Amino acid sequence: MGRSGRGQKHLRSSFWPSGGGIHHQPRPAGVSCPVPLLEASDLVRTYPLTDAPVPALRGVSLTVNRGDFVALMGPSGCGKSTLLQICGGMDRADGGRLCLDGQNVAAMGDAELTRLRRERIGFVFQFFNLLPTLTIQENIAMPLMLARLPEREAFARAAKLAERVGIGHRLGHLPAHVSGGEAQRAALARAVIHEPALLIADEPTGSLDSTNGARVLELFRELNRELGVAILMATHDASVAAAAGTILRMKDGRIQSEE
Ligand SMILES: Nc1ncnc2c1ncn2[C@@H]1O[C@H](COP(=O)(O)OP(=O)(O)OP(=O)(O)O)[C@@H](O)[C@H]1O
Ligand SMILES: [Mg+2]
Repeated sequence: MGRSGRGQKHLRSSFWPSGGGIHHQPRPAGVSCPVPLLEASDLVRTYPLTDAPVPALRGVSLTVNRGDFVALMGPSGCGKSTLLQICGGMDRADGGRLCLDGQNVAAMGDAELTRLRRERIGFVFQFFNLLPTLTIQENIAMPLMLARLPEREAFARAAKLAERVGIGHRLGHLPAHVSGGEAQRAALARAVIHEPALLIADEPTGSLDSTNGARVLELFRELNRELGVAILMATHDASVAAAAGTILRMKDGRIQSEE
C-alpha cells in the first residue's frame, strides 16, 4: 500500500490539525487475517412502487478491505447509488448479507447502525445533502460535533480542511450561497473530517471542473495511501475511476466484471 511513516507524519501535521480522527481502535498485533471492512453477498434491493416494483439490485457481492480503493462504474440506473447507500448503512437490503467492520448489519438496530456509520464511515452523496441552515464551516465540522469534540477544535479543523479543498474563503456561507462545485467539496470535507475507515462517495467529482476534480482525487489518493482509508466510489468518468485499484462494472443491478 506504500504507507510510509514519513507520508503519514506529513499528512497528519498538515492536513489533520488535531493529529488524528475520532475512531481510534487499537488492533491487536499479529492478527494475520484482518476482517474486511465491508463484505456483501448477494444483496437484493427492490423499491416497492405499487404499480411496478423496481429491482435495483439483483444479487451483488463485493468485499472491501482496509486500504482498498474501489471504483464502481455503469450506466445510469444500473444500481450504483442504491448499492452505495446500502453499503454505507443508509438503507437496508431486502435480501443477502452485509457485514460492516465485521458486524452483521441485519442484526443491528437502527441506533447501533447509525453509530457505526457516524464513527467509521464517511459518505459523499450524489446530491451533496449539506444542511441548508448551517454554514459551510458548521456543515464540515458536524461529524466532530456529533462526536462531542469541543466546538473550537471542531471549527479549527473544519477551517483547515476547507482550505485544503479550496473553499477556505466560503466558511461563513450557507450552502445555497456557494457554487455546486464548492458545495461538493464541502460535502467531501464533511465526509472525511473524522478520518473514517471507509469512505463511500457517489460521483464525488460529478459537478467539478477538471482542476477541482483533480484536487478531490488527489485528496482521495492521500487518504487512501497515507491513512489507509478504504474508498468505494461510483463514477461515470473513466479517468476518475483510473485512480482506483479495482474497477467494478455494474449493469442492471448486477456486477458484471472486475478489473
Ligand atoms: N427511491 C426509489 N424508488 C423507486 N425506484 C428507485 C428509487 N431510487 C432509485 N430507483 C430506481 O432504481 C434503479 C437504480 O437506481 P440508482 O439510483 O441506484 O442508479 P445509479 O446507477 O446510481 O444511476 P445514476 O448513474 O443515474 O446515478 C433505477 O431504475 C432507479 O430509477
Ligand atoms: Mg447514482
